[in-house]
Amino acid sequence: MANDGKERKGVSRREFLKVTGAGAALTELLTVKTEEAASAPPAKVVRVPKNRTVPVTLRVNGKVYKLQLEPRVTLLDALRNHLNLTGTKKVCNRGECGACTVLMDGKPVNSCMILAVDAEGHDIVTIEGLAKGGKLHPVQEAFVEHDAMQCGFCTPGFIMAAVGLLNQNKAPTLDEIRSALSGNLCRCGVYPRIFAAVADAAKRMRSGA
Ligand code: FES
Ligand code: FES
Repeated sequence: MANDGKERKGVSRREFLKVTGAGAALTELLTVKTEEAASAPPAKVVRVPKNRTVPVTLRVNGKVYKLQLEPRVTLLDALRNHLNLTGTKKVCNRGECGACTVLMDGKPVNSCMILAVDAEGHDIVTIEGLAKGGKLHPVQEAFVEHDAMQCGFCTPGFIMAAVGLLNQNKAPTLDEIRSALSGNLCRCGVYPRIFAAVADAAKRMRSGA
């Protein structure tokens, strides 16, 4: 069928000119930007001397440690690599999984997100510091009795987060337990047993066990 010029499909000559005009303008803009970037002075490079360390004093599980650390060292790396406290786990190393949870002044924190230098002057408690006189903390006991772990890699972080919760709330509801532990991830998926263990630990602590 003959085309009368009114019902043509596709791009009209006018639209084609508009599009190619815009394309040419964009190409020109990009060319200018590229040339500007090429002629810009090089970014200033700041070189930090290797092995430059600063004195850091940490109080961990009631003991005082004097260390020499690079300022970039996290509390997590200081604990694991310099104090050999490897119960605190390193998984994501960016504040997403809770495996590195320790208590700082009684509150749970992700130790991978805190510089060791910023932990000076605070009381740090790790999983190694919970048992007293050879007796497990009630939260640890409850985790064992409820079999609240499979691979166990997330367990220290969950226990520290739970202890932090029970420090502040002696009788948490299930929702409060879930909420307090929401920053901790368990790839094995034993959440129901973990929540049950924490609820049980709260009861034991209230009864003075
Ligand atoms: S290792 Fe710190 S939050 Fe995952
Ligand atoms: S028990 Fe394996 S990740 Fe939680």
